[in-house]
Amino acid sequence: MPARPIIIDCDPGQDDAIALFLAMASPDELNILGVTAVAGNVPLPLTERNVRMMCELAGREDIPVFAGCAKPMVRDSITAEYIHGETGIDGIDVFEPRTVLQDKHAVDFIVETLLAHDEVTLIPTGPLTNIATAFEKNAEVIQKVKEIVVMGGAMREGGNRTPSAEFNIMADPQAADIVLNCGRPVTLIGLDVTHKVLSTEERVARIGQLGNSVANATVGMLSFFHRYDTEKYSSQGTPLHDPCTIAYLLQPDLFKTKLCNVAVETESELTIGHTAVDFWHVTGRPKNVNWAYDVDADGFYELLTERLSRFPL
Ligand code: BDR
Ligand code: CA
Repeated sequence: MPARPIIIDCDPGQDDAIALFLAMASPDELNILGVTAVAGNVPLPLTERNVRMMCELAGREDIPVFAGCAKPMVRDSITAEYIHGETGIDGIDVFEPRTVLQDKHAVDFIVETLLAHDEVTLIPTGPLTNIATAFEKNAEVIQKVKEIVVMGGAMREGGNRTPSAEFNIMADPQAADIVLNCGRPVTLIGLDVTHKVLSTEERVARIGQLGNSVANATVGMLSFFHRYDTEKYSSQGTPLHDPCTIAYLLQPDLFKTKLCNVAVETESELTIGHTAVDFWHVTGRPKNVNWAYDVDADGFYELLTERLSRFPL
């Protein structure tokens, strides 16, 4: 089977960066047409720089990188330096990448790419601003999307940014509402799943034993990333949220999903960004989302470790 064409839309973020490594290590399955950066964990100039750094570290300067929206559609920006550090990718040495940023705006790249190709899958791992703006700019592109696999939302696990809301949905609830209701197949992988994918000491040590520079960068980023979450959740490691999207494409049988209605709260200041997941179909509202609710965490780390082993020493 030919590699599946994808666009990764992200806001690195250590976990976005590891998602990029996982995708870049999988060229037989995934044809990365481009990576688009959005403001999220840190402001846009840093997220786009971080994407270019990851391409360079992985030896994939061939992948075009685009900068997109610098702020959410309606609300003011929120960021998460208190989790990811001032650079977004604290834990490794930051450098100015040689890889150039493309001139084109990410939203135009998404629109043009969807119009030119059939069967493109979108993988947003940050706020959904770029994707929703592309859909607003030219609604024709929506029908061209094969599938959207999003990291975002929470049901049983509760929120990580507020008691009700997960960061990516909270950061741009209007955009999330547009994407979840676009009418194309949407898989949502939220905290109910990602909080099971913990980077325990043993799992990180196995990645460290690989000894290549991408694996070392992964361990470096995790060593910083884990300090906040392990304290917050009293857990044995940090959740690897964003790489779950790529793992889902590579090995969907690692995940359990159910078709549900998911609605996004866009107004209430108390619960804004909440994902109301109708897991038991009590509302009769249309089933718009394939909701991920369980994962084989050992299988996920097997996959990640094997793929990271493919990078040269
Ligand atoms: C999501 O928010 C960000 O901090 C992470 O990169 C991830 O995409 C988890 O809520
Ligand atoms: Ca992210």
